[in-house]
Amino acid sequence: MDVLRIRGGRRLQGVVEVSGAKNAALPIFAATLLTSEPCTIRNVPDLSDIRFMADLLKRLGAQVERLDPHTWRIQAGSVTHRAPYELVRKMRASVCLMGPLLGRLRRSSVSLPGGCVIGPRPIDIHLKGFSKLGCVVDISKGYVEIDGSRMAGAEVFLGGRHGSTVLGTANLLMAAVLTPGRTRIECAACEPEIVDLCRMLEVMGARIEGIGSPSLTVDGADSLQGCDYAIIPDRIEAGTLLLAAAITEGDVTVRKMCASHLTALLDKLEEAGLPLTVEPTQVRVRSNGRLRPVDVITHPHPGFPTDLQAQMTALMSVTPGLSIITEKIYPSRFMHVPELQRMGADIAIDGANAIIKGGNRLSGAPIMASDLRASAALVLAGLAANNDTWVQRIYHLDRGYEKIEEKLQALGADIERVDQSAIPESLLDPA
Ligand code: EPZ
Repeated sequence: MDVLRIRGGRRLQGVVEVSGAKNAALPIFAATLLTSEPCTIRNVPDLSDIRFMADLLKRLGAQVERLDPHTWRIQAGSVTHRAPYELVRKMRASVCLMGPLLGRLRRSSVSLPGGCVIGPRPIDIHLKGFSKLGCVVDISKGYVEIDGSRMAGAEVFLGGRHGSTVLGTANLLMAAVLTPGRTRIECAACEPEIVDLCRMLEVMGARIEGIGSPSLTVDGADSLQGCDYAIIPDRIEAGTLLLAAAITEGDVTVRKMCASHLTALLDKLEEAGLPLTVEPTQVRVRSNGRLRPVDVITHPHPGFPTDLQAQMTALMSVTPGLSIITEKIYPSRFMHVPELQRMGADIAIDGANAIIKGGNRLSGAPIMASDLRASAALVLAGLAANNDTWVQRIYHLDRGYEKIEEKLQALGADIERVDQSAIPESLLDPA
């Protein structure tokens, strides 16, 4: 198995480009099931999660072709309704197949994905929404069996304890675009990935009003057509690269991003004293080495994204002073903290708060990635540490960051993918 070896302490410098958004591409791939016509999807990131979704679509009967590393052609001429556990368990986002299957076939049988390391991730709100559309929902033998033979437009409220639900909104939208009558979705997620899905559905002929707002109105169509659609840039990758520049006191321009999707992060970086030059599609970070601690609370969009919380925690752990990072979306999403502590970070967890006494110079060590964004945080910590860091279980990273080590190398980082046998024995068993 591969690991990442990072020799920290290099200041990142240069220009880097962001790939397409994974979390937009996954529901958009699912949406291709809504039509029997071909859909060409562009600016797709080259990631293992995308390949999982492509495999699922093939299993459901679609013809799936990768025209080049970032362009896919999908044609779901005929489709079956059952997504099996062996594929669904590999990727939680598979739950967003339910909506398009219901739209297209009025029937869906999708395995429940099982546990997730970032905390409980129920889909009760998705199911409540489908029930409002007239579906009969039953959970049997690990599968969610949904009968949508009496589906009709309705008023659906998608708010929960932690705000709206991103994939729940995607699911309800994809069901509603082919459901007779008018559906009003209240407390819809406003994430840019949902806006992107709406735009793609519009190109397919769907009628949606209120795009980008928490109140969406969908007038169901009889059928949808194929499309040619390019996915938005990945705001979480862009944010991670900006934070990599900050943690190495670098001078980096992140290009092909959408600055308006990251206002909350940019605001925090400015509050932390980081000089930024912001243009619509690129942001330059030019560190002056004088960061201040900031408090951060994660919220649904346009608030600070939970998917950048771990990376921000890494930055604050090297920033002199006290900061508190509060996680409101997944209150136990702190799996990165024990690993950062192994590197010398001074962080205490109190409920949903990480209390960080920042400023310690981190010391590289073999560390274990637990999920996608935790892995990114550990890479950032490694870039700032004062000797070799070995990040293990990097398959998590490959789910969501395209060629991350190549992008960081191009900015001057000393990072390489090596076999885990390269980790010095003395570090694994110092005795
Ligand atoms: C999406 O997950 C993203 N995944 C996640 O990114 C992201 O962390 C999350 O949104 C929040 O922004 C994809 O887009 C593929 P939610 P999703 O439903 O839609 C609770 C990454 O690293 N909830 O918006 O599954 C839930 O437990 C990943 O790229 C219910 O209680 O998240 C959470 O506390 C990880 N019942 C909150 O709502 C429900 O039925 C928000 O979850 C649904 C959700």
